[in-house]
Parts: sequence; C-alpha cells; structure tokens
Amino acid sequence: MPYTPVWYMRQAGRSLPEYRALRTDRKMLDACSNADLITEITLQPVRRYDVDAAIFFSDIVVPLRAIGIGVDIKPGVGPVVDHPIRSAADVAKLRPLEPDDVPFVSAAVTSLVGELNGKPLIGFAGGPFTLASYLVEGGSSKNFELTKTLMYGDPALWADLMSRLAEITIGFLQLQVAAGASAIQLFDSWIGSLSLDDYRASVLPYSRRIFAALADTGVPRLHFGVNTGELLGAMGEAGADVVGVDWRVPLDEAVSRVEPGKALQGNLDPVILMAPWEVVRPRALQVLDRGRTAEGHIFNLGHGVLPETDPDVLARLTDLVHTESVRSA
Ligand code: CP3
Repeated sequence: MPYTPVWYMRQAGRSLPEYRALRTDRKMLDACSNADLITEITLQPVRRYDVDAAIFFSDIVVPLRAIGIGVDIKPGVGPVVDHPIRSAADVAKLRPLEPDDVPFVSAAVTSLVGELNGKPLIGFAGGPFTLASYLVEGGSSKNFELTKTLMYGDPALWADLMSRLAEITIGFLQLQVAAGASAIQLFDSWIGSLSLDDYRASVLPYSRRIFAALADTGVPRLHFGVNTGELLGAMGEAGADVVGVDWRVPLDEAVSRVEPGKALQGNLDPVILMAPWEVVRPRALQVLDRGRTAEGHIFNLGHGVLPETDPDVLARLTDLVHTESVRSA
C-alpha cells in the first residue's frame, strides 16, 4: 500500500443516512443477528469513504446475548442488562461461546470476504474489563463503582469473571478469523478508569490470554481503549501488534510509551470533524506527521465516529490521508 491506511472506529452507524434508513423498523441487536443486514451495513461506509478496511458490524454484547445473557441495546443509551452480576452463581452462567451460537456472524464474514475484493475485514470483540463493566453495572457507567468494588473486594470472583469473559472473547474472535476476517481489534474501551497497577494486576493477564490465543492465526491484532495514556505500554505488552491511541496523547509521544516493534493507530479527535475543513485539514496532517515517528501507522480517529458527523467530511478526510501520506512520504 503506497499510503497510510485509514479506517474509522464506528464508521458504520448513526452518522450515515443509509444506515438510519435500514434501522428505522429494526432493533440494533436484531440487525446484528441478520447476516444480510450485517453485510450491507458493514459495506456502507466502505462505499462512501473508500476506507482501507471494513469493520464487522456487530456489537460487543452480541456474544453475551448469544450465550443467554438478557441484554438489549437501548437507542441513545447503550447496552442494558436485565440481571446485573451480583454473585458467584451469576458469574457461573457465563459459558463459552460456540460457533453455533452465532451462525449469522460466520455467514456474514464469509459473504463480506467475497464482496470486499481483498480489502481487509477487521473482526472485533469487547475486552474483558469493558464487558465486565456492562455486566456488573447493568449498563453504562461513569465511575464503574460496582465493577471496581468487585475487582478490589473479591479478587477470586473477579478472576473467575475475567477468565470466563476472556474465553467468550477468544471464541468470538476465533470464529471471525476462521470465517475469513483478516485482522481483529479488541475494544477494551473503559480500561482508562484503572491505574496502571490495577490494570496490570486485574486486566492485563486476561488480555494477554486473548492475544496469545489468536497468535497462531497470524492475523494482525489491534488493541484499543479510551483515556489510556498511562496504560499504552502495558496494552502493548498484552500482545497486540497495533496499539490504538485516543486523541489525548500525541502519536510521537505514544511511540515512546509503547515497546519497539508495535504499530500505532489513531488519533484525530472525533469532535474536530465538526469544525470547518480549514481546521480539520491541518490537524489531520499533524496526526500523519506524528504517525511517521512510529514503526507503522494506521490513521483513525481517537475514538468512534460521533452520530452528528457529516459523512462528506469523513470522505474528504480519507482522501486527504491517501493523497498527503504519499506526497510527503
Ligand atoms: O465500528 C463500527 O462501525 C462497527 C460497529 C460497532 C458497534 N459497536 C455498533 C453500534 C462497534 C465496533 C461497537 C463496539 C462497542 N459497542 C464498544 C466499543 C467501542 C467504543 O465505542 O468504545 C462499546 C463500548 C459498545 C457498547 C455500545 N453499543 C454503546 C456504548 C452504544 C452506543 C449507545 C448510544 O446510542 O449512544 C452501542 C450501540 C451501538 N453499537 C450503535 C452502533 C452502530 C448505535 C445503535 C443505533 O444505531 O442506535
């Protein structure tokens, strides 16, 4: 590839009118259970933006629902869990995921690989801390009080919970790769709420287990979280090939926090895209410039595309990354 590759976290979804049209009469998790819809929604941003990778349209709670956890995604709210985890008996309900639990995922990956003409398809899963946070809090949270209380107060139950979530995640990622996904990203979005010591002690061993289980597939493994300035080195140690960086840490600074041999992904502030193009352009070029100090760089936003984003700005940004990363290489 002659230019810096670019795709956007949450590139499929609410910022696209064609996505909203498909979703008017369907619930989010119903859309995520239909191979034809998954395929179409995954392809929509690839057509619009000419990005260099597709990200599989799904959600981090899909494998949880598939093993029988009562969870829904409420519009404008996010995941809501019927019976949040409160006891060892609740944790014991988390059984491993089998490919037969999510036949629509394998089917959609297979059809996408056929449609993408060699363009990579990124499979993904939620990381163990982020999944645990939804299961224990029952939904989104600001301070993760219940999750961290369990982590600090009952380390044995926490270990059981994290082990089970790691197994589910491994199963979900492995079946996507088996069906043809060419890279995987582990979204442990909320780990930035932890100190480095707590992350190392209570989360990293499980992320490491996940990346190790994917090692022999040979596909590139990406790892992302928000507010992870203090954790970037440890996230690399967990075994990812590419460490995603949010917009708070400049990429040339992130280089010094991550061990050598890793590529970086990121990290334009998604809110910048609401500003006039004269503001967006130099900021994007600065990200490209700083990305050149890394051993490899995948251009992305520092977190997901926001619903208010004008799709034309993302198309223009993709074009800018492609043309300018060649010109100044
Ligand atoms: O990146 C992509 O385009 C692929 C699709 C994708 C979705 N969710 C679809 C989705 C991905 C990669 C995710 C991951 C995900 N889901 C994460 C990790 C990534 C991140 O943003 O940090 C998390 C934390 C979730 C849980 C979740 N699901 C949240 C917080 C929300 C948003 C709630 C809201 O409406 O503000 C969802 C819903 C969701 N997942 C939507 C989409 C397109 C919106 C559903 C809709 O159309 O209403």
